[in-house]
Amino acid sequence: MFDKIMKLSGAEGRSMELKLHKGTVGPEVVDISSLYREMGVFTYDPGFVSTASCQSAITYIDGDKGELWYRGYPIEQLAERASFLDVAYLLLYGDLPQQSQLAEFERIIRYHTMINETLKNFFNGFHYDAHPMAVMVGVVGSLSAFYHDSLDIHDPRHREVSAHRMIAKMPTIAAASYKHNVGEPFIYPRNDLDYCANFMNMMFATPCEEYAPDPLAVKAVNLLFILHADHEQNASTSTVRLAGSSQANPFACIASGIASLWGPAHGGANEAVLEMLQEIGDASNIDKYIARAKDKDDPFRLMGFGHRVYKNHDPRATIIRKVCHEVLDNMDAKDSPLLELALRLEEVAMQDEYFIERKLYPNVDFYSGIIYRALGIPNSMFTVMFAIARTVGWVAHWMEMMDDPQQRIGRPRQVYTGAGKREYVPLGQR
Ligand code: SDX
Repeated sequence: MFDKIMKLSGAEGRSMELKLHKGTVGPEVVDISSLYREMGVFTYDPGFVSTASCQSAITYIDGDKGELWYRGYPIEQLAERASFLDVAYLLLYGDLPQQSQLAEFERIIRYHTMINETLKNFFNGFHYDAHPMAVMVGVVGSLSAFYHDSLDIHDPRHREVSAHRMIAKMPTIAAASYKHNVGEPFIYPRNDLDYCANFMNMMFATPCEEYAPDPLAVKAVNLLFILHADHEQNASTSTVRLAGSSQANPFACIASGIASLWGPAHGGANEAVLEMLQEIGDASNIDKYIARAKDKDDPFRLMGFGHRVYKNHDPRATIIRKVCHEVLDNMDAKDSPLLELALRLEEVAMQDEYFIERKLYPNVDFYSGIIYRALGIPNSMFTVMFAIARTVGWVAHWMEMMDDPQQRIGRPRQVYTGAGKREYVPLGQR
C-alpha cells in the first residue's frame, strides 16, 4: 500500500518515518497509525478536514474539479442513462450488472419490499404530526427486532441479505411514515411496479380509486435517487461506519445514519432550503438575506450553499438545476416562482465577494426540494427522500468496512482541556 516516506522529528529528539500512500486518484495520505506509539503525540483535526478515515473503492469526489464518480463512472453518465437499481448494484458489487444480474437483483429487492405487518403498530405509536425523519429513525432502528435470521454480521450472506432488506424496505417505511402523517391508509408495495414507481404508488395511491404514477415524476425520482445515492465519507456515512465498527447490527447502523443525515448542516438542508426560499418570498428580499448570511453575528446561513469538499460547482446541483425546468414545465407545477427565486438567489450570491472568496456554490440540496414539491412531496419528506437514496451508499460502505481485514473499532482521541486532577469536596464544604 505504501511507496513513499516522510521524515518527522519531534520533541526530545524523537523522530520517525511516516509512510505515504497514493490511491487510484486523489491526494496522497500519510499513515499516522503509529504516531502516538512512536512520538507520543496525537494529530488534531476538528471536523476531519484533512483526515482520511479509511480506504474505499466506492465513490470518488474531486472537490476542486467538481467531479463525482460511483465506482469510476461519472455521475453525469449514470444520471443520464442508469436506473436507480442499476446504480445500487454498481455501488454494492463494484460493477454495472449484466442484464441477467440486474433482473435477479430487481427480483430480490422486489421480494423484500414488504414490512412485517406488526411493524405497522409501531407507526401508530407516533403522534400524527411526528416529523417523518423521527419515524424513520425509530422504525428502521426497530428492524433488528424482526429479522433475527440475518443478523450474524460475521456471515457475508447475512450481511448481503440485510443490505437487500434495507434497500428494499426504505421506500415502504418512508411512504408509510408519510401516510401516517397525512392520516391515510398504508399502501402495500406492488410487484408489478419498478422501485421508483412502487415508491410513488405507496406515497400517493389510495384504496378509493385507481392511481398510476406519472412516468415523468418516476423519471425525476429515479434521477434524484441516483444523485443522492452515495458521497464517500460524509457525516452520515461516517456515522454508519463508526456504528458498524462496534459490530452493531446493520439496521441499528442505518438508523444512526438517518439520525445524522437529519441535521440541517447535512441532509436536512433540502428542507431548510425550501423554508428559506419561502421566508425570503420575493427577489426584492434577496439582498437582505445575503447580508444576513455574511453577518458573523447572525446565525443565518444560506441553506443549500457551501460544501466541505466541493470548492467548485457540486455536479449534482448542476444536473438538478437543469432538470428543474423540465419537471416544472411538464408537471405544470405552480412552483416556478420558487425556482425563479432560487435561480436569482444563486445569481446574486455567485457575484458576491463573500461567496466567491469562500468558494461557496449551490450544493445538492439547493434545488432538489423544488422538484420534490413539484412532485407533490411535502417539505417534511425531503430528507426522507435523501435517506431512501443514501441507504444504498450506507449499506455499500458498511459491507466494504465489514469485508476489510484492517477493520477495527473506531475510537478517536482528544485534546483534554478540563480541570487538572483534584480532591473530592464534601457537600458541606462546597
Ligand atoms: C450535504 O459531506 C457531504 O458530502 C454532504 C453531502 C452528501 O451528499 O452527503 O454533500 C450532502 O450535506 C450538503 C451540504 C448541505 N448543507 C447546507 O447546505 C447547509 C449550509 N452550508 C453550511 O452550513 C456549510 O457550508 C457546510 C456544513 C455544508 C460545510 O461546512 P464547512 O466545510 O465546515 O465550512 P465552514 O462552516 O467552515 O464555512 C467556511 C466559511 C465560514 O466563513 P469564515 O469563518 O471563513 O468567515 O464559509 C462560510 C462560513 O461562515 N459559510 C457560509 C455558508 N457555508 C459556509 N456562510 C453563509 N452561508 C453558508 N451556507
